[in-house]
Amino acid sequence: MKLAIAVLTSVIVSLCAATVHADPIQIRFSHTVSGKAPKGQMAKHFKKLVEERLKGRVEVKIYPRSLMYLDSEVVSALQEGKLELAAPALSKLKRLTPKLQVFDLPFLFKDMAAVDRFQNSPQGKALLQATVDQGVLGLGYLHNGMKQMSANDPLRVPEDANGKRFRIMSSEVIKAQFEVLGAEGVKAAFPDVFNMLARGKVNGQENTWSNIYSAHLHRHQKYITESNHGLLDYMVITSAEFWQNLPADIRVELDQIMAEAIAFGNQVAAANNDENRQSVIDFGHSEIVTLSDQQRAAWELAMAPVWQQFANEIGPDLILAAKSYNQ
Ligand code: LMR
Repeated sequence: MKLAIAVLTSVIVSLCAATVHADPIQIRFSHTVSGKAPKGQMAKHFKKLVEERLKGRVEVKIYPRSLMYLDSEVVSALQEGKLELAAPALSKLKRLTPKLQVFDLPFLFKDMAAVDRFQNSPQGKALLQATVDQGVLGLGYLHNGMKQMSANDPLRVPEDANGKRFRIMSSEVIKAQFEVLGAEGVKAAFPDVFNMLARGKVNGQENTWSNIYSAHLHRHQKYITESNHGLLDYMVITSAEFWQNLPADIRVELDQIMAEAIAFGNQVAAANNDENRQSVIDFGHSEIVTLSDQQRAAWELAMAPVWQQFANEIGPDLILAAKSYNQ
């Protein structure tokens, strides 16, 4: 009899537990690029791993191409509990902390290995936590890569940019970067860039090979200068409240899955940027402008005043720390 009661009690307890956890936790992941772009593939990989390891406990829905929110809206949406994951470009996160503008300084990082070293450094990791007081937690950095400049005229020396209008992300540093060239940076959402170029509303733009190719921007740009002058990377962000209130075992698993998805996304980014550069060449509409060392030095010199302009907002120590990881 006692055994029967014990068995019955344990069945009831399990049933209650099953009822409590009956509804899977929903994670809505909004981003602005196509599913083929590195960030799109990272999001799909995250979903796949969650389906494999947390089936029935967590569900992921992905909203690509800004179908749910524009990048300019995702931070507020996270703070208001309207979505759980986003990965906007670091360039779009100044409103959370001006320190993140460090990533936009032109010619700061010599290559992606230097970016990795800084992001994995104590100063880089601290930036992921810097926005928790505003309810936003950084779960990790995700790479895209180095930006190239394009236009319908060749951009070989800084003077070639003079008087031109370039679409830019919503970053004051990038705006200043074009101002010091005598050009205008026109802030606009990513889904609008193709049409802006097609209609001649701007003369040029800057982005990575993968974004240029996956958003078909090369179709309306006759010249692409392989400038590698700046970085386009992302911060994967969530609501601090949402993440901290997850059941501990689920949070641990999701942290692990996120790290794996980011590593996967970083590999895709490196491969896509190489492949998509070739695809742009093969498409045959754009000439690739290769800079000589002297020309590259001239661009670096022309954009250098931007560092001074933002040193106080970003913090000179942080700039020096980031630069030190080039060695
Ligand atoms: C852009 O607006 O150019 C990029 O931030 C798009 C993206 O998310 O890669």
